[in-house]
Amino acid sequence: MLSSFDHKRKGKQLFIDFLKQRRSITAKKMAPGKVTKKHLQKILEAGLRVPDHGALKPWRLVVITGAKRKLIDEDVIFSEFKNKNPDASAEIRLIEKSRLQRADVVIAVISSPVEHKKITNWEMQLSAGAVCTTLLYAAQSLDYAAQWLTEWYAYNEKMLKTLGGAPGKDQIAGFIYIGEKVTIPIERTRPELETIVSYL
Ligand SMILES: Cc1cc2nc3c(=O)[nH]c(=O)nc-3n(C[C@H](O)[C@H](O)[C@H](O)COP(=O)(O)O)c2cc1C
Repeated sequence: MLSSFDHKRKGKQLFIDFLKQRRSITAKKMAPGKVTKKHLQKILEAGLRVPDHGALKPWRLVVITGAKRKLIDEDVIFSEFKNKNPDASAEIRLIEKSRLQRADVVIAVISSPVEHKKITNWEMQLSAGAVCTTLLYAAQSLDYAAQWLTEWYAYNEKMLKTLGGAPGKDQIAGFIYIGEKVTIPIERTRPELETIVSYL
């Protein structure tokens, strides 16, 4: 006999099944496609619904979309890259010139710890990681191609400042790339439970 819980979940894809099957699609392999406004709103709302000790909201999100992707690609990413790598090949320069344009929407997650007597920066940074994960899963649950990337420019000061972050205090936890699926990703190797989990 089915319990009332079983009845509720019958015929629905369970969240646990989604978690066990979802996969990221690399920015390299996605097409920008189009993320609808309604979906983006849902993804952002879900992304902010994360564990956050003390409800300190120690994160900021910056949505990069439309023409701003090209602007930041050229004025920040490529310009910084060129300064540091003047001898890069034409092929590499092309990659650096259009990083953000691989997706339709890139959400930058800034970890922005606040002063607190008891709650540590570490916990606030973990909460920023939870925002990244939740944004990623929310986008994937709506069948978009999505990936969490840092690449080199997450550690670049000009990029942090462009996104409104304060060097020395704030850090970029990641860029959540969201685009269209054009390939089905093959499963990658996953850790064996026994090598990671122990029971006391
Ligand atoms: C904090 C963080 C930063 C990451 N940065 C990169 C990166 O710069 N380049 C990259 O290829 N993968 C990066 N990844 C890994 C991919 O996002 C992801 O783990 C991989 O594509 C497999 O994801 P899946 O388990 O969701 O399928 C990063 C992951 C995390 C958690």
